[in-house]
Amino acid sequence: MSAPDQAPAGLSLRPMEVADLPRVARMEAELFGAEAWSRQTLSAELHAAARGDRRYIVVEPGEDGQEDGQQDGRGSRDGRDGFPLLGYAGLYHGDGLGDADLLTLATAPAARRQGLGRLMLAELVESARRAGCRAVLLEVRHSNTAARSLYLSQGFEPIGLRRRYYRAPVEDAVVMRLGLRASTGPVGAEAT
Ligand SMILES: CC(C)(COP(=O)(O)OP(=O)(O)OC[C@H]1O[C@@H](n2cnc3c(N)ncnc32)[C@H](O)[C@@H]1OP(=O)(O)O)[C@@H](O)C(=O)NCCC(=O)NCCS
Repeated sequence: MSAPDQAPAGLSLRPMEVADLPRVARMEAELFGAEAWSRQTLSAELHAAARGDRRYIVVEPGEDGQEDGQQDGRGSRDGRDGFPLLGYAGLYHGDGLGDADLLTLATAPAARRQGLGRLMLAELVESARRAGCRAVLLEVRHSNTAARSLYLSQGFEPIGLRRRYYRAPVEDAVVMRLGLRASTGPVGAEAT
């Protein structure tokens, strides 16, 4: 998997902040329905991130982007609530001695197929690599072909199936893994 790109012109990729929570919670509810994390859960995750074992990021239009809420009275940069959120993602890396876990990844429907999912994923994989993790693991709904295609395109491999892992609706999870550490064996081989 390649190193993360710089955010393309007109986009800002930055750490998630408390001021982002209303927008993230709204998008979470729209995209994940009954399985959405509540604002309280998101807030607890953000506080956990402050301890340094996980990282949450958001992507939004840059300061010079076209979607400036102050132009049509939707809000202010300080409140952020009226500004569009294009995507968010989170990853747990712990102390770096184990595997990282992709916790969430979402792109707003109107911003899809423009590379934002790939951008956020690359950024978080790089965090896991910097932390020293051996691999990044994730679970994804079997029917989620968009996400599975994204992960496959970035080098993740399916390594298992968790039967009836999801509840609403009930569905199996595909477990995927991306190895991060170069092996001491043949050049280019990954540790298993
Ligand atoms: C999965 C998701 C994050 C992808 O975000 P995205 O910003 O549209 O992804 P990208 O534009 O970076 O796509 C990168 C690659 O992933 C694959 N991909 C993405 N969406 C796809 C789709 N609908 N169908 C097939 N392949 C797709 C393609 O290989 C794509 O590369 P390409 O556009 O050059 O062909 C987005 O669809 C989403 O938010 N879905 C709802 C939430 C969700 O399911 N999150 C994942 C939970 S595990």
